[in-house]
Amino acid sequence: MNKYSAILVTGGCGFIGCNFIRYLFEQTGYRGKVVNVDALTYAGNPLSLADLTERFPERYTFIRADIRDRDAMAGVIDCHDIDSICHFAAESHVDRSIVKPDDFVTTNIMGTFTLLELARQHAGSIRRFHHVSTDEVFGSLGDSGYFTEDTPYRPNSPYSASKAGSDHLVRAYHTTYGLPVTISNCSNNYGPYQFPEKLIPLMILNALENKPLPVYGEGRNVRDWLYVEDHCRAVWDIFRNGIDGRTYAIGGDCEQRNIDLVQRLCVMLDDLVGSPAGKSSYADNIVFVKDRPGHDHRYAIDAARIRAELGWKPRESLGSGLRKTIRWYLENRAWTDHVRSGEYQNWIAEHYG
Ligand code: NAD
Ligand code: TYD
Repeated sequence: MNKYSAILVTGGCGFIGCNFIRYLFEQTGYRGKVVNVDALTYAGNPLSLADLTERFPERYTFIRADIRDRDAMAGVIDCHDIDSICHFAAESHVDRSIVKPDDFVTTNIMGTFTLLELARQHAGSIRRFHHVSTDEVFGSLGDSGYFTEDTPYRPNSPYSASKAGSDHLVRAYHTTYGLPVTISNCSNNYGPYQFPEKLIPLMILNALENKPLPVYGEGRNVRDWLYVEDHCRAVWDIFRNGIDGRTYAIGGDCEQRNIDLVQRLCVMLDDLVGSPAGKSSYADNIVFVKDRPGHDHRYAIDAARIRAELGWKPRESLGSGLRKTIRWYLENRAWTDHVRSGEYQNWIAEHYG
């Protein structure tokens, strides 16, 4: 039995959102409708879900709209009898937030606020508002310790500060208005369809083009890597069975220093496709570059709550997840070529103006 029959997914043309929608249609018993609203920024690629439009014409709808546009979003909720919202849409890249934070503040904070206000106005019909957030709101760890749901917020970048602002609003709408919200704060995702500005796809695609592999600082920063499908399963578990007003921390149990991760990717690529012309390994292309300002040292999650309360745990190890990811990028060169060349932006202009 599904509790919901018309889910609004925001940001469904981005990396995690498109994996989530695909997961819903292909790997769960969900039989209702999904309405995907995405503004199609540089990070949104409708080609990632083009097949769903053909395979599920009655159940899958894509609408190009901006979550900051209250009238457009009200129209979507009313026209499609939306009964639940899974909110992924955001500006998501830390480096971009350092150079130009404007859209981070307006989309991540004001966009979330707009959706919350609409959910409040539709209190009778909207029975779940799930907000997807990041562990970066908790700041940076030293060499030991873990983030939990009770860790105080201490965001360090404009990106994480804007996500922290949105988390606070979501929680406040539960406390003040009784909105049935849930929040998840997860660690770094990786897997298919990730825009190649983030570490793992950038390294894979640069390596395949025999380009430099830029590691910030000395590469000693640590991230906890979560395979995107494991994350989607966690979000779906929370969406259906999470407790209203509750936060869940989601981690992959796969901590790794950046330099070790990049070296590991290089060895896997050497094995899978052979080392690049004139070099003994892709690792020869690693270059250490200027560090990111305010670079958080370490993120790591203690996911005890979601394990105990919802029975979720990650299924992929870092080795198995990275192998799947590399294979996906090798087998989907049409997608990567479109994204790398910017060709998909022409396709968007043609189709959506
Ligand atoms: P992404 O950048 O790949 O995708 C974001 C999507 O949101 C894009 O399709 C974009 O077009 C859309 N979007 C941006 N602004 C919009 C607006 N104003 N209106 C409508 N759509 C808009 O991001 P992602 O990696 O898929 O992240 C999804 C969510 O998960 C974000 O909220 C992010 O903060 C969170 N998160 C991501 C990670 C990660 O490792 N990628 C980790 C923790 C949390
Ligand atoms: P990123 O994928 O941007 O995720 P986040 O900043 O949200 O953790 O970066 C992951 C780690 O990799 C982070 O410590 C920064 C580092 N990094 C590099 O060393 N080189 C790169 O080219 C990029 C994009 C990131």
